[in-house]
Amino acid sequence: MGSHLADVWFQVTDLPVVSGSGCIVTTADGTEYLDFTSGIAVTSTGHCHPTVVAAIQAQAARFIHAQVNCYRHPLLEQLAERLAGISPSGIDTFFFANSGAEATEAAVKLAKHATGRPNIVVFQGSFHGRSHLTMAMTTSKTGYRAGYQPLPSGVFVTPFPHAVRDGLAEDEAVGRALDAFDLLLATQTAPSETAAIVMEPVLGEGGYLPAPAAFAQGIKARCEQHGFLYVADEVQSGFGRTGAMFAIDALGVVPDVVIMAKGIASGFPISAIGASAELVRRWATGAHGGTYGGNPIGCAAALATIDVLTAPGFMENVNARGEQLRSGLRSLAVAHPEIIDVRGPGLMVGCELVDANGAPNAARVAAVTAHCRDEGHLLLMNAGSGGNVVRWMPPLIVSEAEIDQALAAFEAALVATS
Ligand SMILES: Cc1ncc(COP(=O)(O)O)c(C=O)c1O
Repeated sequence: MGSHLADVWFQVTDLPVVSGSGCIVTTADGTEYLDFTSGIAVTSTGHCHPTVVAAIQAQAARFIHAQVNCYRHPLLEQLAERLAGISPSGIDTFFFANSGAEATEAAVKLAKHATGRPNIVVFQGSFHGRSHLTMAMTTSKTGYRAGYQPLPSGVFVTPFPHAVRDGLAEDEAVGRALDAFDLLLATQTAPSETAAIVMEPVLGEGGYLPAPAAFAQGIKARCEQHGFLYVADEVQSGFGRTGAMFAIDALGVVPDVVIMAKGIASGFPISAIGASAELVRRWATGAHGGTYGGNPIGCAAALATIDVLTAPGFMENVNARGEQLRSGLRSLAVAHPEIIDVRGPGLMVGCELVDANGAPNAARVAAVTAHCRDEGHLLLMNAGSGGNVVRWMPPLIVSEAEIDQALAAFEAALVATS
Protein backbone atom coordinates (compact mmCIF):
# COMPACT_ATOMS: atom_id res chain seq x y z
CA MET A 1 0.00 0.00 0.00
CA GLY A 2 1.15 3.54 -0.72
CA SER A 3 1.96 6.18 1.89
CA HIS A 4 -0.80 7.94 3.81
CA LEU A 5 1.46 10.98 4.14
CA ALA A 6 0.86 14.13 2.11
CA ASP A 7 3.43 14.51 -0.62
CA VAL A 8 3.54 18.30 -0.28
CA TRP A 9 6.78 18.57 1.73
CA PHE A 10 9.92 18.93 -0.39
CA GLN A 11 12.59 16.59 0.92
CA VAL A 12 16.23 17.43 1.54
CA THR A 13 16.82 13.67 2.02
CA ASP A 14 14.52 10.67 2.40
CA LEU A 15 16.62 9.20 5.22
CA PRO A 16 14.47 7.21 7.71
CA VAL A 17 15.92 8.66 10.92
CA VAL A 18 14.99 7.16 14.29
CA SER A 19 17.07 9.17 16.78
CA GLY A 20 19.37 12.14 17.19
CA SER A 21 22.11 12.99 19.66
CA GLY A 22 24.36 16.05 19.49
CA CYS A 23 25.37 16.59 15.85
CA ILE A 24 24.46 13.02 14.82
CA VAL A 25 21.22 11.56 13.46
CA THR A 26 20.87 7.78 13.14
CA THR A 27 18.77 5.90 10.58
CA ALA A 28 16.70 2.75 11.07
CA ASP A 29 19.60 0.54 9.92
CA GLY A 30 21.99 2.15 12.40
CA THR A 31 23.87 4.42 9.96
CA GLU A 32 25.03 7.70 11.48
CA TYR A 33 25.05 11.08 9.70
CA LEU A 34 26.64 14.35 10.73
CA ASP A 35 23.63 16.66 10.71
CA PHE A 36 24.76 20.08 9.50
CA THR A 37 21.14 21.02 8.68
CA SER A 38 20.20 21.19 12.39
CA GLY A 39 16.66 20.54 11.12
CA ILE A 40 16.89 23.92 9.30
CA ALA A 41 18.80 25.86 11.96
CA VAL A 42 16.71 24.66 14.90
CA THR A 43 18.68 22.17 17.03
CA SER A 44 21.29 24.70 18.11
CA THR A 45 22.02 22.86 21.35
CA GLY A 46 22.35 19.60 19.38
CA HIS A 47 19.75 16.88 19.11
CA CYS A 48 18.26 15.92 22.48
CA HIS A 49 20.55 18.00 24.69
CA PRO A 50 20.26 16.39 28.16
CA THR A 51 19.38 19.69 29.88
CA VAL A 52 16.54 20.30 27.43
CA VAL A 53 15.30 16.69 27.56
CA ALA A 54 15.20 16.78 31.39
CA ALA A 55 13.27 20.06 31.38
CA ILE A 56 10.70 18.73 28.89
CA GLN A 57 10.28 15.46 30.81
CA ALA A 58 9.77 17.23 34.14
CA GLN A 59 7.33 19.75 32.70
CA ALA A 60 5.29 17.07 30.88
CA ALA A 61 4.42 15.54 34.25
CA ARG A 62 3.26 18.93 35.63
CA PHE A 63 1.28 20.51 32.82
CA ILE A 64 1.12 19.75 29.10
CA HIS A 65 -1.34 22.49 28.21
CA ALA A 66 -2.21 25.49 30.39
CA GLN A 67 -4.12 27.77 28.03
CA VAL A 68 -2.96 31.33 28.40
CA ASN A 69 -6.42 32.93 28.24
CA CYS A 70 -7.86 30.52 30.80
CA TYR A 71 -5.13 30.80 33.47
CA ARG A 72 -1.42 31.59 33.77
CA HIS A 73 1.33 29.06 34.48
CA PRO A 74 4.56 30.35 36.08
CA LEU A 75 6.92 29.63 33.19
CA LEU A 76 5.29 32.38 31.06
CA GLU A 77 6.68 35.15 33.27
CA GLN A 78 9.93 33.27 33.84
CA LEU A 79 10.55 32.91 30.11
CA ALA A 80 9.55 36.51 29.36
CA GLU A 81 11.94 37.76 32.06
CA ARG A 82 14.72 35.53 30.75
CA LEU A 83 14.18 36.71 27.19
CA ALA A 84 14.23 40.34 28.35
CA GLY A 85 17.68 39.69 29.81
CA ILE A 86 19.15 38.44 26.51
CA SER A 87 17.23 40.54 23.98
CA PRO A 88 18.45 43.76 22.33
CA SER A 89 18.17 46.86 24.47
CA GLY A 90 14.62 48.05 25.18
CA ILE A 91 12.98 44.73 24.18
CA ASP A 92 11.33 43.67 27.44
CA THR A 93 7.77 42.49 26.74
CA PHE A 94 6.86 39.26 24.94
CA PHE A 95 4.02 37.49 23.14
CA PHE A 96 4.28 33.74 22.49
CA ALA A 97 3.15 31.77 19.45
CA ASN A 98 4.08 28.43 17.88
CA SER A 99 6.04 28.96 14.65
CA GLY A 100 8.13 31.54 12.86
CA ALA A 101 5.35 32.39 10.42
CA GLU A 102 2.86 32.89 13.26
CA ALA A 103 5.27 35.15 15.13
CA THR A 104 5.89 37.16 11.95
CA GLU A 105 2.14 37.58 11.50
CA ALA A 106 1.94 38.72 15.12
CA ALA A 107 4.69 41.30 14.59
CA VAL A 108 2.87 42.77 11.59
CA LYS A 109 -0.42 42.84 13.52
CA LEU A 110 1.31 44.66 16.40
CA ALA A 111 2.89 47.15 13.96
CA LYS A 112 -0.47 47.90 12.35
CA HIS A 113 -2.20 48.45 15.70
CA ALA A 114 0.62 50.46 17.22
CA THR A 115 1.05 52.82 14.26
CA GLY A 116 -2.46 52.84 12.80
CA ARG A 117 -0.83 52.42 9.37
CA PRO A 118 -1.59 49.71 6.79
CA ASN A 119 1.58 48.88 4.82
CA ILE A 120 4.87 47.10 5.46
CA VAL A 121 8.15 46.97 3.54
CA VAL A 122 10.19 43.77 3.16
CA PHE A 123 13.49 43.01 1.42
CA GLN A 124 14.13 41.19 -1.85
CA GLY A 125 15.28 37.64 -1.15
CA SER A 126 13.61 37.36 2.27
CA PHE A 127 11.77 34.35 3.65
CA HIS A 128 9.18 34.93 6.35
CA GLY A 129 6.97 31.83 6.22
CA ARG A 130 4.22 29.85 4.50
CA SER A 131 0.97 31.49 5.70
CA HIS A 132 -0.73 33.82 3.24
CA LEU A 133 0.64 37.05 4.74
CA THR A 134 4.13 35.65 5.18
CA MET A 135 4.07 34.25 1.63
CA ALA A 136 3.29 37.78 0.46
CA MET A 137 6.37 38.91 2.44
CA THR A 138 8.57 36.15 0.97
CA THR A 139 10.60 36.73 -2.19
CA SER A 140 13.45 34.22 -1.85
CA LYS A 141 11.87 31.96 -4.52
CA THR A 142 8.64 32.09 -6.55
CA GLY A 143 8.10 28.42 -5.66
CA TYR A 144 6.92 29.46 -2.19
CA ARG A 145 4.12 31.59 -3.70
CA ALA A 146 3.23 29.88 -7.01
CA GLY A 147 -0.38 28.78 -7.25
CA TYR A 148 -1.50 30.81 -4.21
CA GLN A 149 -2.15 34.24 -5.72
CA PRO A 150 -3.70 36.61 -4.93
CA LEU A 151 -1.75 37.18 -1.75
CA PRO A 152 -2.53 39.84 0.88
CA SER A 153 -1.86 43.41 -0.21
CA GLY A 154 0.02 46.15 1.62
CA VAL A 155 3.40 44.43 1.29
CA PHE A 156 6.11 46.33 -0.64
CA VAL A 157 9.47 44.85 -1.64
CA THR A 158 12.75 46.78 -1.74
CA PRO A 159 16.25 45.56 -2.77
CA PHE A 160 18.73 43.98 -0.33
CA PRO A 161 22.39 44.71 -1.17
CA HIS A 162 24.33 41.81 -2.73
CA ALA A 163 27.72 43.31 -3.57
CA VAL A 164 29.44 40.09 -4.71
CA ARG A 165 26.63 39.04 -7.07
CA ASP A 166 26.38 42.53 -8.56
CA GLY A 167 30.15 43.07 -8.81
CA LEU A 168 30.00 46.21 -6.65
CA ALA A 169 31.95 47.57 -3.72
CA GLU A 170 29.90 47.12 -0.56
CA ASP A 171 29.30 50.84 0.02
CA GLU A 172 28.08 51.21 -3.57
CA ALA A 173 25.68 48.25 -3.18
CA VAL A 174 24.40 49.78 0.08
CA GLY A 175 23.96 53.23 -1.51
CA ARG A 176 21.95 51.79 -4.39
CA ALA A 177 19.70 49.75 -2.09
CA LEU A 178 19.02 52.78 0.14
CA ASP A 179 18.22 54.89 -2.95
CA ALA A 180 15.77 52.19 -4.07
CA PHE A 181 14.13 52.28 -0.62
CA ASP A 182 13.73 56.06 -0.85
CA LEU A 183 12.25 55.66 -4.33
CA LEU A 184 9.76 53.09 -3.00
CA LEU A 185 8.63 55.60 -0.35
CA ALA A 186 8.30 58.32 -3.00
CA THR A 187 6.43 56.19 -5.53
CA GLN A 188 4.64 53.21 -3.94
CA THR A 189 4.01 53.34 -0.20
CA ALA A 190 3.68 56.79 1.39
CA PRO A 191 5.60 57.13 4.67
CA SER A 192 2.34 58.11 6.39
CA GLU A 193 0.87 54.75 5.33
CA THR A 194 3.91 52.63 6.20
CA ALA A 195 3.80 50.84 9.57
CA ALA A 196 7.07 48.89 9.58
CA ILE A 197 9.97 47.39 7.74
CA VAL A 198 10.69 43.71 8.38
CA MET A 199 14.32 42.70 7.85
CA GLU A 200 16.28 39.49 8.34
CA PRO A 201 19.67 40.77 9.63
CA VAL A 202 21.17 37.85 7.71
CA LEU A 203 19.04 36.61 4.80
CA GLY A 204 18.39 32.92 5.53
CA GLU A 205 16.61 31.09 2.73
CA GLY A 206 17.75 33.99 0.53
CA GLY A 207 21.36 32.80 0.65
CA TYR A 208 22.95 33.34 4.07
CA LEU A 209 23.68 36.91 3.07
CA PRO A 210 24.42 39.34 5.93
CA ALA A 211 22.99 42.86 5.84
CA PRO A 212 25.92 45.31 5.81
CA ALA A 213 25.78 47.38 9.03
CA ALA A 214 25.58 50.59 6.97
CA PHE A 215 22.48 49.28 5.22
CA ALA A 216 20.68 48.27 8.44
CA GLN A 217 21.64 51.65 9.96
CA GLY A 218 20.45 53.56 6.87
CA ILE A 219 17.08 51.80 7.00
CA LYS A 220 16.84 52.39 10.77
CA ALA A 221 17.52 56.13 10.24
CA ARG A 222 14.62 56.26 7.78
CA CYS A 223 12.41 54.38 10.25
CA GLU A 224 13.16 57.04 12.87
CA GLN A 225 12.59 59.86 10.40
CA HIS A 226 9.18 58.57 9.28
CA GLY A 227 7.90 56.69 12.35
CA PHE A 228 8.17 53.16 10.91
CA LEU A 229 8.88 50.28 13.27
CA TYR A 230 12.10 48.38 12.59
CA VAL A 231 11.19 44.69 12.90
CA ALA A 232 14.09 42.23 12.97
CA ASP A 233 13.12 38.74 11.82
CA GLU A 234 15.60 36.69 13.86
CA VAL A 235 13.77 33.40 13.34
CA GLN A 236 16.82 31.86 11.68
CA SER A 237 19.62 34.19 12.83
CA GLY A 238 18.69 34.38 16.53
CA PHE A 239 19.70 32.45 19.63
CA GLY A 240 23.43 32.31 19.09
CA ARG A 241 23.41 31.21 15.46
CA THR A 242 25.62 34.16 14.46
CA GLY A 243 27.90 34.03 17.49
CA ALA A 244 25.89 36.71 19.30
CA MET A 245 22.52 36.12 20.92
CA PHE A 246 20.88 38.04 18.05
CA ALA A 247 22.43 38.99 14.71
CA ILE A 248 21.12 42.55 15.00
CA ASP A 249 23.41 43.02 18.04
CA ALA A 250 26.38 43.27 15.64
CA LEU A 251 24.78 45.81 13.27
CA GLY A 252 24.57 48.83 15.56
CA VAL A 253 20.79 49.02 15.24
CA VAL A 254 18.23 48.86 18.06
CA PRO A 255 15.12 47.15 16.69
CA ASP A 256 11.57 47.98 17.79
CA VAL A 257 10.35 44.39 17.46
CA VAL A 258 12.27 41.09 17.35
CA ILE A 259 10.76 37.90 15.92
CA MET A 260 12.09 34.66 17.46
CA ALA A 261 11.56 30.95 16.73
CA LYS A 262 13.68 27.98 15.54
CA GLY A 263 16.67 27.93 17.95
CA ILE A 264 14.62 29.31 20.86
CA ALA A 265 13.68 25.88 22.26
CA SER A 266 15.96 23.30 20.61
CA GLY A 267 13.14 21.98 18.44
CA PHE A 268 10.07 22.23 20.61
CA PRO A 269 7.62 24.39 18.60
CA ILE A 270 7.39 27.74 20.36
CA SER A 271 8.01 31.23 18.97
CA ALA A 272 7.89 34.76 20.33
CA ILE A 273 7.90 38.40 19.47
CA GLY A 274 9.53 40.94 21.76
CA ALA A 275 9.08 44.72 21.90
CA SER A 276 9.16 47.50 24.48
CA ALA A 277 6.40 47.61 27.08
CA GLU A 278 5.43 51.03 25.74
CA LEU A 279 4.92 49.65 22.23
CA VAL A 280 3.07 46.53 23.34
CA ARG A 281 0.67 48.71 25.40
CA ARG A 282 -0.62 50.00 22.06
CA TRP A 283 -1.79 46.45 21.19
CA ALA A 284 -5.30 46.26 22.60
CA THR A 285 -6.12 43.38 24.94
CA GLY A 286 -7.91 40.68 22.94
CA ALA A 287 -6.52 41.96 19.62
CA HIS A 288 -4.42 38.80 19.21
CA GLY A 289 -4.02 35.38 20.78
CA GLY A 290 -4.02 31.66 19.98
CA THR A 291 -4.82 28.34 21.63
CA TYR A 292 -1.30 27.01 22.13
CA GLY A 293 0.88 30.13 22.50
CA GLY A 294 3.02 29.97 25.65
CA ASN A 295 2.70 26.19 25.94
CA PRO A 296 4.31 25.11 29.24
CA ILE A 297 6.52 22.42 27.71
CA GLY A 298 7.65 24.91 25.07
CA CYS A 299 8.47 27.44 27.79
CA ALA A 300 10.42 24.80 29.74
CA ALA A 301 12.34 23.79 26.60
CA ALA A 302 13.13 27.46 25.85
CA LEU A 303 14.31 28.18 29.41
CA ALA A 304 16.58 25.12 29.33
CA THR A 305 17.86 26.09 25.88
CA ILE A 306 18.73 29.59 27.10
CA ASP A 307 20.58 28.03 30.06
CA VAL A 308 22.71 26.06 27.60
CA LEU A 309 23.29 29.02 25.26
CA THR A 310 24.35 31.34 28.08
CA ALA A 311 26.70 28.88 29.83
CA PRO A 312 30.30 30.13 30.02
CA GLY A 313 32.26 29.39 26.86
CA PHE A 314 29.25 28.51 24.71
CA MET A 315 29.36 31.53 22.39
CA GLU A 316 33.16 31.34 22.24
CA ASN A 317 32.78 27.88 20.71
CA VAL A 318 30.28 29.20 18.15
CA ASN A 319 32.71 31.92 17.07
CA ALA A 320 35.78 29.65 17.08
CA ARG A 321 34.01 26.94 15.04
CA GLY A 322 32.68 29.59 12.66
CA GLU A 323 36.22 30.92 12.11
CA GLN A 324 37.47 27.37 11.57
CA LEU A 325 34.71 26.66 9.05
CA ARG A 326 35.11 29.89 7.10
CA SER A 327 38.88 29.62 6.92
CA GLY A 328 38.61 25.95 5.84
CA LEU A 329 36.14 26.88 3.10
CA ARG A 330 38.31 29.82 1.97
CA SER A 331 41.29 27.46 1.69
CA LEU A 332 39.18 25.15 -0.49
CA ALA A 333 38.20 28.13 -2.66
CA VAL A 334 41.85 28.52 -3.72
CA ALA A 335 41.76 25.19 -5.58
CA HIS A 336 38.07 25.57 -6.44
CA PRO A 337 37.44 29.00 -7.98
CA GLU A 338 33.81 27.98 -8.50
CA ILE A 339 33.44 29.05 -4.84
CA ILE A 340 33.02 32.80 -5.32
CA ASP A 341 32.07 33.75 -1.77
CA VAL A 342 32.33 32.40 1.77
CA ARG A 343 30.36 34.59 4.16
CA GLY A 344 28.28 34.88 7.28
CA PRO A 345 28.85 35.39 11.00
CA GLY A 346 29.18 32.64 13.62
CA LEU A 347 27.79 29.35 12.38
CA MET A 348 25.46 30.92 9.78
CA VAL A 349 27.87 30.41 6.90
CA GLY A 350 27.07 30.52 3.19
CA CYS A 351 29.31 29.29 0.40
CA GLU A 352 28.24 30.46 -3.08
CA LEU A 353 29.01 28.38 -6.19
CA VAL A 354 28.97 29.49 -9.83
CA ASP A 355 29.66 27.76 -13.16
CA ALA A 356 32.44 28.54 -15.63
CA ASN A 357 30.44 31.50 -16.95
CA GLY A 358 29.90 32.93 -13.48
CA ALA A 359 26.21 31.93 -13.43
CA PRO A 360 24.59 30.49 -10.26
CA ASN A 361 25.25 26.74 -10.24
CA ALA A 362 22.38 25.03 -8.42
CA ALA A 363 23.09 21.70 -10.16
CA ARG A 364 26.62 21.65 -8.76
CA VAL A 365 25.38 22.45 -5.26
CA ALA A 366 22.86 19.60 -5.58
CA ALA A 367 25.62 17.20 -6.75
CA VAL A 368 27.98 18.30 -3.97
CA THR A 369 25.38 17.96 -1.20
CA ALA A 370 24.28 14.53 -2.57
CA HIS A 371 27.92 13.36 -2.55
CA CYS A 372 28.37 14.68 1.00
CA ARG A 373 25.29 12.73 2.08
CA ASP A 374 26.06 9.45 0.31
CA GLU A 375 29.84 9.28 0.65
CA GLY A 376 30.67 11.59 3.55
CA HIS A 377 27.56 10.92 5.67
CA LEU A 378 27.24 14.69 6.04
CA LEU A 379 23.87 16.42 5.70
CA LEU A 380 23.87 19.90 4.15
CA MET A 381 21.21 22.09 2.55
CA ASN A 382 21.22 24.75 -0.11
CA ALA A 383 19.94 28.33 0.03
CA GLY A 384 19.65 31.35 -2.22
CA SER A 385 17.22 32.40 -4.92
CA GLY A 386 19.42 30.55 -7.44
CA GLY A 387 19.78 27.48 -5.18
CA ASN A 388 23.56 27.90 -5.51
CA VAL A 389 24.58 28.59 -1.92
CA VAL A 390 25.68 25.76 0.36
CA ARG A 391 24.17 26.54 3.73
CA TRP A 392 26.30 25.66 6.78
CA MET A 393 24.21 25.64 9.96
CA PRO A 394 25.58 22.91 12.23
CA PRO A 395 24.42 22.60 15.83
CA LEU A 396 26.19 25.31 17.84
CA ILE A 397 27.76 22.64 20.05
CA VAL A 398 29.70 21.28 17.05
CA SER A 399 33.27 20.22 17.85
CA GLU A 400 36.53 21.09 16.11
CA ALA A 401 36.84 17.47 14.93
CA GLU A 402 33.31 17.50 13.48
CA ILE A 403 34.02 20.69 11.51
CA ASP A 404 37.22 19.07 10.16
CA GLN A 405 35.25 15.94 9.23
CA ALA A 406 32.64 18.04 7.41
CA LEU A 407 35.29 20.06 5.54
CA ALA A 408 36.98 16.82 4.41
CA ALA A 409 33.65 15.44 3.14
CA PHE A 410 32.94 18.72 1.35
CA GLU A 411 36.36 18.78 -0.30
CA ALA A 412 35.91 15.19 -1.51
CA ALA A 413 32.52 16.17 -2.94
CA LEU A 414 33.97 19.23 -4.74
CA VAL A 415 36.69 17.07 -6.30
CA ALA A 416 34.31 14.26 -7.28
CA THR A 417 31.79 16.58 -8.93
CA SER A 418 34.15 18.95 -10.76
C1 LIG B 1 13.79 34.19 8.69
C2 LIG B 1 12.61 33.28 8.80
N1 LIG B 1 11.42 33.80 9.15
C3 LIG B 1 10.32 33.03 9.28
C4 LIG B 1 10.38 31.68 9.02
C5 LIG B 1 9.14 30.84 9.16
O1 LIG B 1 9.27 29.99 10.27
P1 LIG B 1 8.34 28.69 10.41
O2 LIG B 1 8.77 27.74 9.36
O3 LIG B 1 8.59 28.22 11.81
O4 LIG B 1 6.94 29.14 10.21
C6 LIG B 1 11.59 31.09 8.65
C7 LIG B 1 11.68 29.64 8.36
O5 LIG B 1 12.61 29.16 7.75
C8 LIG B 1 12.73 31.91 8.53
O6 LIG B 1 13.92 31.41 8.18
